[in-house]
Amino acid sequence: MSFHAIAIDGPAASGKSTLARALAEKLGIVMVNSGAMYRAVTWKILKENIDPSDTAAVVALLEKLEISCGQTGSLSTIFIDGEDPSPFLREPSINANVSAVSAILQVRDRLVALQRDYLKSTHVVMEGRDIGSVVFPTTPFKIYLDADPSERDKRRAKDGEVDSVAQRDAADSSRQTAPLKVADGAAFLDTSHSSIEGVIDAAIAILAKQGFPLPQAAELEPEPTKQMRWIYWLGWMSFGAAYRSLFGLRIIGAENLILSGPVLVASNHQSFLDPPLIGNLYKTEMVFFARKTLFKGFGKWLYPQWNAIPIDQDKPDMSSMKTVIRMLKEGWRVLVFPEGARTLDGEIGEAAPGVGMIAAKAGVPIQPVRIEGADKALPRGSGKISLARITVKVGKPILLSPEEFKSYSNKEGYTALTERIMTAIRAL
Ligand code: DC
Repeated sequence: MSFHAIAIDGPAASGKSTLARALAEKLGIVMVNSGAMYRAVTWKILKENIDPSDTAAVVALLEKLEISCGQTGSLSTIFIDGEDPSPFLREPSINANVSAVSAILQVRDRLVALQRDYLKSTHVVMEGRDIGSVVFPTTPFKIYLDADPSERDKRRAKDGEVDSVAQRDAADSSRQTAPLKVADGAAFLDTSHSSIEGVIDAAIAILAKQGFPLPQAAELEPEPTKQMRWIYWLGWMSFGAAYRSLFGLRIIGAENLILSGPVLVASNHQSFLDPPLIGNLYKTEMVFFARKTLFKGFGKWLYPQWNAIPIDQDKPDMSSMKTVIRMLKEGWRVLVFPEGARTLDGEIGEAAPGVGMIAAKAGVPIQPVRIEGADKALPRGSGKISLARITVKVGKPILLSPEEFKSYSNKEGYTALTERIMTAIRAL
């Protein structure tokens, strides 16, 4: 499994962190602030009363340090010997010494290895000075940000920071190892006269050009209030209102939702309440599966109005699978319950490889979702509603490159992809 790295480099106060954070949120990936890592090591050096210019002493300390990097939500974290230095990282003493510390070869080697480790388990947008040139030189997704020095000074002053931006830039650009520079293949973006939104839009356009598998360009826009057909809207509105009042419907992770373009939504299945529950996460129509036997009498008219595709639950139903694969390719959002049937005991059961096959063949983003409490609100085998609280947890989308989709394109691959999706659901 390979992950994507977006490299954002540039001088101090050029807007790298703001852009990287916004991209991480929009794309549902992790933002790594590599400068914070150099700052954290500087903090420890100063705390131990070591002179940052005494390379031998710095290296001796470095060898003893336990540095652990991780993430909370979409942001990177760093602990040194079990301590979180983040409250101290913008102090004047750190601003004044971090360039000297980051010029030490052994410091860079240690931190670059930790930076590369992120890519073993997640897509990242990483910002710094040498991300496109040294940390991830082969990534095709590189942006170099810059802004007028006077503008950058203003930004730092506005943040209330004591920081000699020009001095730090000079040191960072002129050092021997991994100096700040425009990496090969990086797109240059000047942020001097742009709003934050303007910079984000420009960066997304650059990434699209560089071939980053954006969930879909259009979905990065705020959700358009598309009209629902009235009969779909009637169901959507009535179920939504009922769920909110009866079950205190709570949604966690709504910021992870991919709001337009094709998405395969994969959820555990607890109750008949589930499909409208998922449908209510969105303000535009989506496609569902429904048991073939429901398409009788009035149901024969109603279910198609609610974009339900009939599925035979007794045997693998290739024709309905083909229908949803086609609809995903046409840009629809489709809900699939990988387990096929509702849970008997509230636990998440085994999944059939169908969802992996649909995902691999359609090649669209996958949104893992976990429903909790619907099995108590309307248990399987009972017609009685209870006022149990329902929670829907939305996970970060699983975004795969075309090569990764290809690697899942046989029976074992479908099973592996299904397992990956189920693991993401269970982790929520
Ligand atoms: O991005 P920042 O201003 O927080 O970075 C602080 C310092 O860390 C910067 O002056 C140089 C150093 N740094 C580096 O050498 N390489 C990186 N990839 C990131 C930061």
